[in-house]
Amino acid sequence: MNNSVETQNRDQWSSKVGFILAAAGSAVGLGNLWKFPYTAGMNGGGAFVIVYFAILLLVGFTLMLAELVIGRSTQLNAVGAYRKINKSWGWVGGLGVLAGFVILSYYSVVGGWVINYIVKAATGAFNTTDMDVLGNMFGGLISSTWTPIVYHGIFMAITLAIVIGGISGGIEKFSKILMPALFIMIILIVFRSVTLPGAAEGVKFFLQPDFSKINGKVILAALGQVFFSLSLGMGCMVTYGSYLSKNENIPQSATLIPLLDTGVALLAGLAILPAVFALGFDPTGGPGLVFITLPAVFAKMPLGALFAIIFFLLVLFAAVTSSISLLEVVVAYVVDDWGWKRSKATTIVAAAIFLVGIPASLSMGPWSHITLFRGLGVFDALGFLTDQILLPLGGLMLCIFIGWVWGVDNAVKEATNNGKVKFAIAPIWGFIIKYIAPIAIGYIFISGLIG
Ligand code: TRP
Repeated sequence: MNNSVETQNRDQWSSKVGFILAAAGSAVGLGNLWKFPYTAGMNGGGAFVIVYFAILLLVGFTLMLAELVIGRSTQLNAVGAYRKINKSWGWVGGLGVLAGFVILSYYSVVGGWVINYIVKAATGAFNTTDMDVLGNMFGGLISSTWTPIVYHGIFMAITLAIVIGGISGGIEKFSKILMPALFIMIILIVFRSVTLPGAAEGVKFFLQPDFSKINGKVILAALGQVFFSLSLGMGCMVTYGSYLSKNENIPQSATLIPLLDTGVALLAGLAILPAVFALGFDPTGGPGLVFITLPAVFAKMPLGALFAIIFFLLVLFAAVTSSISLLEVVVAYVVDDWGWKRSKATTIVAAAIFLVGIPASLSMGPWSHITLFRGLGVFDALGFLTDQILLPLGGLMLCIFIGWVWGVDNAVKEATNNGKVKFAIAPIWGFIIKYIAPIAIGYIFISGLIG
């Protein structure tokens, strides 16, 4: 451990747009394009979307600002940031680094499937609407031994290659290319989807809330989704915020990033669900929605082969701009705290994450009989550990830390650059972070664990 960090020359975002695109890139990912549509599909469509919005407004914006403020104030990685403000709080950042490590290990496995599906789309493999064939194609991929591990390796290698370039020369540079490309591609796909005959039913399912469908399960799913989708609860935005200069407008960024993220989640829902309805498939298909149902949708649609390639490419871009942020959380810690060179830290951490991802991948095939806890295999257990435990716990501790340890006043001072930047709702923000958010998160967290 050393603290020479603060004197070391630290990389910074080179422009405001660059930072916003990188942070939005972190937020927009498999969470939006893969998880959001199927989770909405399984949880009553519009009912889920409305609860998602409520939690986003109350907790999402609040925690986004909180994380950015801690990072910018301390200019340190997640562990160092908490520790600098209060010596006995470093472990909360430590849980975050652990969460980043674990999330990336299985995130990258899914990222590998996406790369494999780009290859499949490009070679015309989806030329069927037979759900059994498509189901077997997906099941066959994820349950085989070597293929998914090789693609997982390719995905990690891409992530490594970007992060090794640092903040402005790696993460920011690539986000500036990948994110605009992503926006264009998703708008193309939405346009294709909602203009299909019969799409209106799907739009209605997705956007018209049926309040009677809201229950504890829907609320829990929505909370988990807000954390995951906004990259909150593990110091990811602390880390990204630590590369911000002292004159950046944080309240504005903390508004813009969730808006972009939610925009893409809604577009993803509109890209997928109307097409699913129009072509007569089931929206409650779960995790297979993107990998099984969607290829059938593409097979039925005019120019489908082309749109399939565009779609999976878009998913890959979104996944990569997220995976680099997960890797950066761990790398920033190792560089700051252990004093390793970035190149060494990135390579070794990425290799370690790749190794942990292997059992996760195998758990869907040859190792499917191995369960860790609650009857969950490795892949599902890692997902449960992060989504249901580490992220909500990290979010809860973040609220307590700001509200009761560091103090809302200090946080607001930092958020407004000592009163120079407008932050009109600061008192409301302070009230939410001190009382409302921790109670809401704590309640949902505990009832989720018991339930
Ligand atoms: N938000 C990303 C997505 O939606 C995933 C992600 C990146 C993430 N960084 C994170 C999730 C930090 C939780 C915490 O796919």
